[in-house]
Amino acid sequence: MGHPIAFDFAAKLAANAPGGADAKLDRVFFTGSGSESVDTALKIAIAYQRAIGQGTRTRIIGREKGYHGVGFGGISVGGLVNNRRVFPQIPADHMRHTLDIERNAFSKGLPQHGIELADDLERLVALHGAETIAAVIVEPMSGSAGVILPPKGYLEKLRATADKYGILLIFDEVITGFGRLGTPFATDYFGVVPDLVTTAKGITNGTVPMGAVFASRKVYDGLMVGPENAIELFHGYTYSGHPVACAAGLATMEIYEEEGLLTRAADLADYWQEALHSLKGLPNVVDIRNLGLVGAVELTSRNGAPGTRAYDVFVDCFQKGLLIRVTGDIIALSPPLVVEREHIDTIVSKLTGALKRAA
Ligand SMILES: Cc1ncc(COP(=O)(O)O)c(C=O)c1O
Repeated sequence: MGHPIAFDFAAKLAANAPGGADAKLDRVFFTGSGSESVDTALKIAIAYQRAIGQGTRTRIIGREKGYHGVGFGGISVGGLVNNRRVFPQIPADHMRHTLDIERNAFSKGLPQHGIELADDLERLVALHGAETIAAVIVEPMSGSAGVILPPKGYLEKLRATADKYGILLIFDEVITGFGRLGTPFATDYFGVVPDLVTTAKGITNGTVPMGAVFASRKVYDGLMVGPENAIELFHGYTYSGHPVACAAGLATMEIYEEEGLLTRAADLADYWQEALHSLKGLPNVVDIRNLGLVGAVELTSRNGAPGTRAYDVFVDCFQKGLLIRVTGDIIALSPPLVVEREHIDTIVSKLTGALKRAA
């Protein structure tokens, strides 16, 4: 059933949509989670291609180490083996990931090396034929695999190649959406505008399950061509636009605005960067990466057993009142947008102690 709050919230999101004034992705499809947003975006991409007479385009290109949730679409385009190996997948292929510690260790912000990895899209077009590829999906900043950043110029190149071959570009902003990099969306941070953006998490500050897919006018207009009473996209969830979630989303946006939280990470980014990089030189630290209010510290494995040292650091920090996330040998950090400089100092000092003790 319809209710007015879904329209209010959609209008609010549309007014604040990714893409800047000229190219706003201001058509909004509500979902219940990040995984639903991803599968929705993939289906919109395939349905759009078919609607514009490109029905052979059913393959989606993802990337190694990508994480796009746990739906069948998301695991197919994702690049984390444990999420994939047990389950069948939709037609997909993968570009190489962009983590290159040998050349880029301890980069502050975006790494210098690796723009050429975007040429993988050209190679996959040569392998499969452009006429089989509907879309390419990437996290503009890869979170779950341990904060993997796009090399300078990489996303721009991906956009250009996608355009060249009629392939839609999807940014999965389930982590980067709603202020994580210091702009409302990573799309705005990088100034690279995709055709679809997936979101969840920050849309309600995680208080109530919800997600949304933002689509460009090109995609919307290409797909929504039927008469008034026609359903162009046979897709949707019982809880799409649930009134409680929409109310939570509206309240969240209000607080984001009142407290300037969607751009607050920009004010803290330099402080965060320097604080994190002060961990360089501590035992077993082989890389430190950061962007906006996200960071990662990568460690060597202990006695060839991946994850054991990072796990010790996790337990040590937890016992001292600091919750960190570890994935393999990587400590991934994503403090709340309301964090203060003194909290950052505390995070770094607890980590310093834990890293020394885990040596
Ligand atoms: C980039 C990205 N996409 C999709 C998802 C899946 O979101 P959810 O767990 O809400 O299904 C996540 C979750 O962490 C994510 O980081």
